[in-house]
Amino acid sequence: MFPNIFHALASGMLFSAVPTTTMGLPSQQAADHSMGFIGCSMGENVAQGYVAVGGKRMWGPYGTGALVVQSWTNSNSAAWQKFDQQAAQYGKPDTVWVQICIFANPGATYTEVKQLIANARSHAAPNATIYITGQPLYDPGQSCFLAGQGGAELTDRLAQQAGNDSTQGAIYPGSFILHQAEVQDGCHANTAGQQSLGKQAMTFWG
Ligand SMILES: *[C@@H]1O[C@H](CO)[C@@H](O)[C@H](O)[C@H]1NC(C)=O
Ligand SMILES: *[C@@H]1O[C@H](CO)[C@@H](O)[C@H](O)[C@H]1NC(C)=O
Repeated sequence: MFPNIFHALASGMLFSAVPTTTMGLPSQQAADHSMGFIGCSMGENVAQGYVAVGGKRMWGPYGTGALVVQSWTNSNSAAWQKFDQQAAQYGKPDTVWVQICIFANPGATYTEVKQLIANARSHAAPNATIYITGQPLYDPGQSCFLAGQGGAELTDRLAQQAGNDSTQGAIYPGSFILHQAEVQDGCHANTAGQQSLGKQAMTFWG
């Protein structure tokens, strides 16, 4: 039911056909902008597409380009200050998506990933739900030159590892996929790719 509603919203159909007061979303529907995220330009690609397809729960893009894992390991970093500005605007998020992004060198370690999860908890509302994914995977034989060959797969494995680790209490919802025709520069999503990523995000967390 939700995907249909969102598709209708995205195409503007529901707004023109039905008065907004009768839309009657269920009470457990997450509040607008109650979900934050951390990540890099690939996270921004998801957020751009998410907004474009009518997503409301998660924040829109907020300038996270190049903010790979090491930008988020220090809880007082410039990256976390950006996050805190979003939280000041919308309230501390009750849900945070942690996207693991890397440059080929230095990559990332599981210790760093655990630090990201801990930092996300400390910057979010108490008892926030944490989702964790890697950066999007590509079609077989394709990779992102910034993350290096096998880099995207490494981030996905690290996210799975965290999801499997009961000490972390983080949820791995699955991997994001960017198909070859959806990639614009050997790494990032083109407009179609952003929309595809946005729909995948909608499937994961509405
Ligand atoms: C957080 O969760 C714990 C354990 O479920 C609970 O005891 C605590 O009251 C919760 N804190 C808040 C602020 O909701
Ligand atoms: C996580 O657990 C799933 C299900 O048991 C398993 O298929 C997967 O290989 C595990 N991944 C890692 C990285 O631990």
